[in-house]
Amino acid sequence: MSIIADDNDFKTATEKKEKNPVIKPEEIEADRNFENSIRPKTFDTYIGQSGIKDTLKITIQAAKKRNLPLDHLLFYGPPGLGKTTLAGVIAEEMGVDIKITSAPALERPRDIIGILMSLKEGEILFIDEIHRLNRVTEEILYPAMEDFYLDMTTGKSQTVKTLRVPLPKFTLIGATTKAGELSGPLRDRFGIIHRLEFYSDDELAQVIERTAGILEIEIDESGAYAIAKRSRGTPRIANRLVKRVSDYALVKHNGKITESIANISLDILKIDEYGLDTTDRNLLKLIVEKYDGGPVGIETIAAAIGEDVRTIEDVCEPFLLQAGLLQRTPRGRKVSPEGYRHLGYKISVSDQQSLF
Ligand SMILES: Nc1ncnc2c1ncn2[C@@H]1O[C@H](COP(=O)(O)OP(=O)(O)OP(=O)(O)O)[C@@H](O)[C@H]1O
Ligand SMILES: [Mg+2]
Repeated sequence: MSIIADDNDFKTATEKKEKNPVIKPEEIEADRNFENSIRPKTFDTYIGQSGIKDTLKITIQAAKKRNLPLDHLLFYGPPGLGKTTLAGVIAEEMGVDIKITSAPALERPRDIIGILMSLKEGEILFIDEIHRLNRVTEEILYPAMEDFYLDMTTGKSQTVKTLRVPLPKFTLIGATTKAGELSGPLRDRFGIIHRLEFYSDDELAQVIERTAGILEIEIDESGAYAIAKRSRGTPRIANRLVKRVSDYALVKHNGKITESIANISLDILKIDEYGLDTTDRNLLKLIVEKYDGGPVGIETIAAAIGEDVRTIEDVCEPFLLQAGLLQRTPRGRKVSPEGYRHLGYKISVSDQQSLF
């Protein structure tokens, strides 16, 4: 089917949303309510990550049989791959409550102490961005995680006394996009550590069809695949794109998402067939055109494209590296031959050799 696109209305809407990028995997304000309504709650609806799921199912069954809480768990991996969702699934499958917080909210000792003392036996405490905990909070957590007690001091100077306050047996689930920044002693206190992987196109197509079902969006299989292919292996992006493509389908067609509708609207959103957006392409182009393909330092790249180093490291890079378009070397970042090809540059055999 061919569709004649008169995209002016849609473009205007898209351009207005440029400050609210559709393919950045980190959570943005607009996601929050939407995400809660489509977040899977059980292992059956949590798509992909089958290795992690299989191990967790066994661990959960064993914990239930022993009537003990789960070991502390750490999930790491790029944003939007389902760490928070998985923590919720575990709570649901264990049949326990989950308290959700994040490291930046645990600034003062009393913040973490208050939460720990409010926990009930078997409950789950979820700490997001756990690599950002401060030293004092971390040190309060060590005995709490290991032996379920808190060391509290009372009185002043000479009359100071240490009180050992017992805590209920709880499970801590930590999530981070930067496992490397976690302190060794904290990491060692997690019994189970899992890295979440990017999703395959098949898995993302299932995520998309599930979301479309919940939101009552009509989509066919090839439409779901077309969106999946440009979702950077990330369910959060897939879900965002379904909504955007559905807007287009509604305004320009009969509301149904087909392959051609998906492709046209994603082209308008300037998301290419790898799922790269303008920032990603600018990053690769800069390295090719100004630095001869690299290597070049991350600070230089950040300054030149006007992004901060953290955004590049946490958001752009993981996918560019995994897609094989970018390489990380001790002397900086290099564009791979595949990256050259993707940007449409022709590379000679000698160029290709010098790129390795
Ligand atoms: N396995 C999955 N199956 C179906 N949908 C998923 C899955 N994983 C994540 N999602 C969807 O993607 C969205 C983002 O997932 P989630 O918030 O769990 O990511 P995250 O890894 O915690 O990200 P961040 O690092 O930004 O906190 C969720 O709203 C959920 O709907
Ligand atoms: Mg999260």
